[in-house]
Amino acid sequence: MEACLKKIFFITAIILFFFAFSLSIFRADALSIVPTHADRTKVKKGCGGCHIPHKGKGPSLLEKEREMSCAKCHDAVIEKKVKTDDIGDGKNPKDVYTSIRKSSNHPVLTTTKYHKFGEVLPETDITTPRHAACFDCHNAHVLTTDDKFKGLEGVTVAGSKKIKRMKISNESEICYKCHGDSANLPANQKNKRLEFLPANASYHPVEDVGKRTTVPSLRKPLTISSTITCSDCHGDDDQQAAKGPHGSNFAPILRYNYATDDNQPESYYRYESCYRCHDRNSILADESFKVTNSSAQLRGHNYHIVTAKTSCYACHNSHGSARYKDLIDFDKTIVVPNQNGRLDYVHEGNVITCYLKCHNKQHGL
Ligand code: HEC
Ligand code: HEC
Ligand code: HEC
Ligand code: HEC
Ligand code: HEC
Ligand code: HEC
Ligand code: HEC
Repeated sequence: MEACLKKIFFITAIILFFFAFSLSIFRADALSIVPTHADRTKVKKGCGGCHIPHKGKGPSLLEKEREMSCAKCHDAVIEKKVKTDDIGDGKNPKDVYTSIRKSSNHPVLTTTKYHKFGEVLPETDITTPRHAACFDCHNAHVLTTDDKFKGLEGVTVAGSKKIKRMKISNESEICYKCHGDSANLPANQKNKRLEFLPANASYHPVEDVGKRTTVPSLRKPLTISSTITCSDCHGDDDQQAAKGPHGSNFAPILRYNYATDDNQPESYYRYESCYRCHDRNSILADESFKVTNSSAQLRGHNYHIVTAKTSCYACHNSHGSARYKDLIDFDKTIVVPNQNGRLDYVHEGNVITCYLKCHNKQHGL
């Protein structure tokens, strides 16, 4: 009985929506910009492109199981069969499911079932299963070509929730819904919102321009005034694939390889995630990190990366460091306190001193 009422309610809702659409109420804010999926030259059947009033599966009467509800048009494997039926001439919706099926991914296929229509994020209950659905990051009803996050709620870097018509420059506000203050954040993940706080000692320039005035390794067109987004680093390893952090063969959903293990020979490929924006020659020529030991031997980037075979990850956080300049945040599985029990990084003026033990070498005694 309840299910029946729900269907009646839903069909009424659809009729009202159709009516509203025909009156263009839903487009009033953007006058000429028609949401991508409401554009009949793109999605021929309108609402029927995704919903079937009488036979829908799952709570939203979607045509397919919810995790597959976008596959009909965004999965290269399925797409061909329905192309002429559902998709407007010359339109070519991007294949996203091939990315989602890669080894490191947003677990859309396995966890969409935990998404609830109208839910409020971040999660406040530690026992709630983690999930990621296409519709957590895209509102299929209102998104446009220019603004793929339109109509979503986000969380700002300061921690407040806001509903707004987000621009792509605010992509991170979507991510903080699940990678910030979530009570169910996995133990091995840090709160990303806190890692990118502009009040931190250092950070990659996602929320604000960076703090350093000289970053000699930056490759053009990047400058110290540039800002970057999460998906500049997180995305498919196939650079022709749909943009966005859907899935990749490189974990964790990285566009380029990044090795974090110790004692391995340096190569461009090993640290490609960094070298793509930071010139390898500059880094290995010690243009920034250049110190000498008590015997006046060079002990900068080159020595550590090439000779001592340490990964960038042994010293640097990829996101931000609340405590230290230069994105320093030691990998504690390699770097431990020195014999005086001190583990610290001090960078004042041009003088850098490390207090630690690494590869059995005491520093800062
Ligand atoms: C591109 C696919 C797509 C199109 C086209 C589409 N929808 Fe939806 N709709 C969805 C998805 C996905 C959800 C579930 C969203 C969620 O759970 O957060 C949804 C949810 C809904 C809901 C809420 C149902 C519930 O679970 O309570 C209503 C009502 C609705 N759609 C009506 C419409 C109407 C009316 C149209 C046509 C104007 C339309 N939709 C077109 C994908 C679509
Ligand atoms: C009935 C086919 C169809 C379904 C189902 C569908 N889409 Fe689309 N989608 C399209 C078309 C067509 C485009 C525009 C492609 C173009 O402009 O060449 C598009 C574009 C997009 C874009 C990019 C916006 C733009 O204008 O470039 C996003 C994001 C998107 N879809 C997300 C989704 C999500 C999320 C779902 C599932 C809830 C979904 N789509 C389901 C047909 C569909
Ligand atoms: C609705 C929740 C949700 C949103 C929003 C979300 N994610 Fe995720 N993300 C997940 C879940 C669930 C996983 C699987 C691992 C986990 O539980 O964290 C994941 C995994 C990841 C991983 C791989 C982590 C690993 O250790 O393998 C990266 C990288 C990532 N997300 C980046 C992003 C970025 C960038 C954004 C914003 C564009 C974002 N996520 C938005 C839920 C979300
Ligand atoms: C400059 C490149 C870069 C940017 C920008 C970036 N990441 Fe990452 N991220 C990485 C790399 C490299 C790793 C793997 C090494 C590590 O954990 O530091 C990673 C790891 C992760 C992980 C999994 C491990 C963990 O610490 O939880 C998540 C989740 C994640 N990033 C989310 C995000 C989100 C969300 C944003 C934007 C708000 C973002 N990243 C911006 C490069 C980046
Ligand atoms: C964790 C958040 C997240 C999830 C989950 C997610 N997307 Fe995206 N998606 C993004 C981001 C971020 C972008 C990049 C937007 C940009 O920068 O243009 C994007 C871009 C897209 C695009 C446009 C790609 C292009 O090259 O123009 C499509 C289409 C799309 N997503 C569809 C989907 C579909 C379908 C699903 C589910 C299978 C999905 N997304 C799941 C975050 C997400
Ligand atoms: C042994 C620790 C250590 C390792 C390993 C390390 N760095 Fe650094 N890095 C530093 C220190 C210390 C600074 C600050 C130097 C300064 O400001 O004078 C720095 C500064 C930087 C800077 C900012 C200045 C510039 O050169 O543009 C970048 C970028 C950088 N490192 C990238 C990398 C990359 C990429 C790797 C791996 C290929 C790496 N680092 C490995 C310690 C390290
Ligand atoms: C998408 C481009 C991009 C990628 C990829 C990237 N960086 Fe950066 N990085 C920047 C920019 C831009 C700055 C300049 C910020 C500033 O002006 O302080 C920067 C600054 C830095 C700094 C100096 C930050 C400070 O405040 O002292 C370090 C260290 C650094 N990056 C290390 C890395 C490492 C390690 C990787 C690989 C995991 C990496 N970067 C990948 C763009 C990138």
